[in-house]
Amino acid sequence: MKLGAFLLLVPTTIAFPGLSSAQIWLASFQQPLMNFIDNPIRRSTVPQFILDARHPWILANQRKLERLPNAEAFLCSSPDPESSESRGIETKASEEELQIPLDLFDKLEINNNRAGISRPGWPNALERLGEMERCQRALSQVKGLEVEIYVYQGKHPDTFLNLLEPSQPPEQLLTLFGDVLESMTDLETLKWGIRKEDTHLFEQAFKSRNLTLPSIKNLKPGPSSHYMVGICPNLEWLENGGGWTWYHGYMPDGRDWGLLLIQAALTSPKLKRFAMVGGHNGWTPFLISEIVKSMPQIESLGLLGSLGPQTRYTGLSTGDSGKLKAVMEVLTGLENLTHLDLPESSSLDLGFTGGSGCGNAYFGKGGRIFLREVTKNGAEATEKGGDIVVANLPHLTSFRIGRTCANITRNEEGVINVTWPWTGRTDEWLMQVVPEKPDFYDVEYDRM
Ligand SMILES: *[C@@H]1O[C@H](CO)[C@@H](O)[C@H](O)[C@H]1NC(C)=O
Ligand SMILES: *[C@@H]1O[C@H](CO)[C@@H](O)[C@H](O)[C@H]1NC(C)=O
Ligand SMILES: *[C@@H]1O[C@H](CO)[C@@H](O)[C@H](O)[C@H]1NC(C)=O
Ligand SMILES: *[C@@H]1O[C@H](CO)[C@@H](O)[C@H](O)[C@H]1NC(C)=O
Repeated sequence: MKLGAFLLLVPTTIAFPGLSSAQIWLASFQQPLMNFIDNPIRRSTVPQFILDARHPWILANQRKLERLPNAEAFLCSSPDPESSESRGIETKASEEELQIPLDLFDKLEINNNRAGISRPGWPNALERLGEMERCQRALSQVKGLEVEIYVYQGKHPDTFLNLLEPSQPPEQLLTLFGDVLESMTDLETLKWGIRKEDTHLFEQAFKSRNLTLPSIKNLKPGPSSHYMVGICPNLEWLENGGGWTWYHGYMPDGRDWGLLLIQAALTSPKLKRFAMVGGHNGWTPFLISEIVKSMPQIESLGLLGSLGPQTRYTGLSTGDSGKLKAVMEVLTGLENLTHLDLPESSSLDLGFTGGSGCGNAYFGKGGRIFLREVTKNGAEATEKGGDIVVANLPHLTSFRIGRTCANITRNEEGVINVTWPWTGRTDEWLMQVVPEKPDFYDVEYDRM
């Protein structure tokens, strides 16, 4: 097994003098690597993927669990009264105090790079999947799985560092991933964060075995992972994942992963909600017309990011560019749309560009007054946007501009009235959101 090869090299890294930043990064996951080899810091007998899931019951009972003769078997065997008969009476007594909660395996993750975890990407995935594969109870009970694999991309002159963090996933991992996903028969929500340079390897592996995941209803794939949509024929909810990587970089062949995600939804007749960040160039009438073509049935849509490229603050009102109206006209093609999420009013190209990005402008007493002025302009732009929305899409039952939810009411004649949190009380509301004395959040904001 390949893992064995780099384990032998671990002591070399420990002995390394004068660490570079890459080596310090690597050093930070030596702890989990050390667990492979016999070492004085005994590895927990609770499988690592269970510890990673941070269920409060595990956190509270970890010590007790570790005292069991076989914590893994206790946690992982399917609830089956017969299987406990073979165990000793003493074990039974301690197991009886430990009632495994029904939601223990609801949410699992394969994540090598979050707060408190820093491990090599592919080896971590291989180990966690191996543990999951052995844990029948987890496979049959898991509802949500989050996959975030971060692979350190630096080029190391040292061969052993490359071995420690192989840049490509091993063949074995591609197979194991398919096996484990297929065995998760109740999995409803999948967050699929494989970096865009590697994700095609999973695509090939999954397609060649005709992987289908019929239980999945909610999918959040990162850039260039749109192939997962076709693998999940019963999707109801699709949203882009990938965080900031959704905005950044390009594929070598210039493919637009946003457009590909939209087009992939053509194979999801049950899709009810789609949400995506516009990405590099923001939302254009063309991209939106692709939504209408590939998912005409959707009821809820999130157009996140900005309409067109993000406009910069100029301090001058540029006036309404007409982009919002153009977008609304395309959306009239979605006959069953009832909910819409739009970008912040500063990203709708309505003339309001969001206020100075320079934090100093908001500092001190004059700064509070200025911030209130900018906030008021933003609210006015939101109202203007809201009017354009309801004039074009009168069937909506709710919509949102940025984080602000519009309140839609209809009178007996069906006349629509949109109200906002500040409607009829603008001054009071402004004093509420920008108080005289800034709270902690505002202080942070002032220093940005
Ligand atoms: C996958 O499906 C295709 C077409 O339906 C079929 O030809 C192929 O044999 C299948 N492959 C496997 C591994 O089942
Ligand atoms: C909209 O909903 C109606 C009622 O459920 C349905 O018959 C119709 O096919 C839907 N329209 C589209 C484009 O899917
Ligand atoms: C929405 O407006 C109606 C009528 O003005 C009001 O009764 C209701 O409380 C409002 N809802 C919210 C969430 O503001
Ligand atoms: C809209 O709602 C607001 C707040 O409830 C109310 O003051 C206003 O008269 C309403 N306008 C219409 C046209 O119904």
